[in-house]
Amino acid sequence: MDCLVIKGGTPLKGEVRISGAKNAALPLMAATLLTKEECVLRNLPNLSDVRFMAQILESLGAEVQMNRGTLRVRAKKIEGYGDYDLIRKMRGSICILGPLMSRLNKAKVSMPGGCVIGARPIDLHLKGMRDLGATIRVEAGYVHAKAATLTGGETFLGGRCGPTVLGTANVMMAAALAKGTTVIHSAACEPEIADLAAFLNAMGAKISGAGSPTVTIHGVRRLRGADHRVIPDRIETATYALAGAVTGGGVTLRNCNPAHLSAVLDKMGEAGVRFDTGRTTLRVRPAKQLRSVDITTMPHAGFPTDVQAQMMVLMLKSPGISIITERIFESRFMHVNELARMGADISIEGPSAIVKGGHPLSGADVMASDLRASAALILAGMAAKGTTRVNRVYHIDRGYENIDGKLRALGADISREPGQ
Ligand code: EPU
Repeated sequence: MDCLVIKGGTPLKGEVRISGAKNAALPLMAATLLTKEECVLRNLPNLSDVRFMAQILESLGAEVQMNRGTLRVRAKKIEGYGDYDLIRKMRGSICILGPLMSRLNKAKVSMPGGCVIGARPIDLHLKGMRDLGATIRVEAGYVHAKAATLTGGETFLGGRCGPTVLGTANVMMAAALAKGTTVIHSAACEPEIADLAAFLNAMGAKISGAGSPTVTIHGVRRLRGADHRVIPDRIETATYALAGAVTGGGVTLRNCNPAHLSAVLDKMGEAGVRFDTGRTTLRVRPAKQLRSVDITTMPHAGFPTDVQAQMMVLMLKSPGISIITERIFESRFMHVNELARMGADISIEGPSAIVKGGHPLSGADVMASDLRASAALILAGMAAKGTTRVNRVYHIDRGYENIDGKLRALGADISREPGQ
C-alpha cells in the first residue's frame, strides 16, 4: 500500500485547478440508467470511486466509455441485478436503487454496512421508496425492492441528523418516471442535489425546488439523453484553501464555486484567514494572526462534515481553544488520535473535540482511516516541522484527484512511496 511522505514547513504558493465533484458525480452517473439514450457527463474527476461506479453501470448492462474526464453511457438494456461484490465495496453505489426502480420497477442492491465514520443506515431511502408504492424486504444482506407501478406521493426525508443527501437523490430519481407528482419534504439542500436536478431536467424530467427543503417532481413517461458538466468539488476547494491557510501561504483556486462554500469561508474569515472570491476563483492570502473559532457541522448550508477534519488542522495552528462539534456522523474523529502523534492537544467530549491550538506540530508516522481524515493528516504534515508519513493512502485516491501532484505544483515537498 502506497504512503505519502511530506516534509513540512513550506508555505504553499501558486494556482491549482479544482476537479469535478465526486459527490455530484456518483448520483449523476447513476442517473444515466434512467434512459436508453446516450448521456454524456463532463468534468468528471479521475478517482477510484468514479471508476468503480463506471464498473457498476457496466455490470448492470450499460455501455460505458470514459475518456479524460468525459463519460458516455448508453443504458439501452439494463438489469436490476449487478455485480454485488462491486456494489458492496462502495457506499455511494446505493444511489442506483432509485434509477433501477424507476426504469424497471424492481431492484436488488446489497445493503451497505456501517463504516469508520459511523453507522450508515438507509432507512430513509427505503421509506422514500415505500412512500412511492414500493414493497421492500431486506434479506441475506440485500435490499429487494419492487412495485407494480411507482406512484408519486408525499415523503418526509428528515432523519435524526437532518436530511439525507443520497436518500434525496434516490427518491428524486425514482420519482422522475413515477406516475403523478411527488413532494419531498425535508429534502437535502446540498449543491450536489441541485446539480442532479439540473441533469434530470435536461433529460426531460420536471423537477422544481431542488437545493431547497421542498422538492417537487412531476413524473414523466420517458427521459432522453443529455450532456452535462459536473459542478466543481466544494470539499476539494475547501481542502486546498485550508492547505494554503495552515501553511501560511497564498494560493489561488481556479474552476471552483465559492458560492457553495459560504459556511467554510465565513469560519475561515472569523479565524483570521484573508481571501478574495470571484465567480469561479478563490484566492487565499496568509493570515496576519490566526484565532480559534468554534465549529458545528450541519446539513447544507451549515458547515460541512466533510471539511471538519481539515478545519481542525487550522484550529491546531490557531492560538486558543476551539470546540469542534460533529453533528452528522457519530464517530468522525478518527483523525484525532493520529494528530495527537504529531503533538496535537485535542480531547473528545461526546460529539465535541476540544482543540487547544497554537502549539507546534512535529512530523510523525500516521495512519489514514477515511478520505477526509487522510486529507487532514496531509495538511497537518505540511504545517508540521519534520517528516510525516501518511500510510494507507488509498483512501485519499477515492476522493482527491492527483492530490500529491497538485500539492507539489503549489510547492509542497510531498512524494508517494510504496508502503511497507
Ligand atoms: N441517515 C439516516 N438514515 C438514512 C440515511 C442517512 O439516519 O437512511 C443519517 C446518517 O447516518 C447521517 C445523516 O443521516 O447521520 C446524513 O447522511 P447522508 O445520507 O446525508 O449521507 P450520504 O448521503 O450517505 C453523502 C456524502 C458523504 C457526506 C454526507 C453528508 C456521497 C457519496 N457521500 O453521504 O460524503 O459526508 O453526504 O454530507 O455523496 C465524503 O465524501 O467523504 C463523504 C463521506
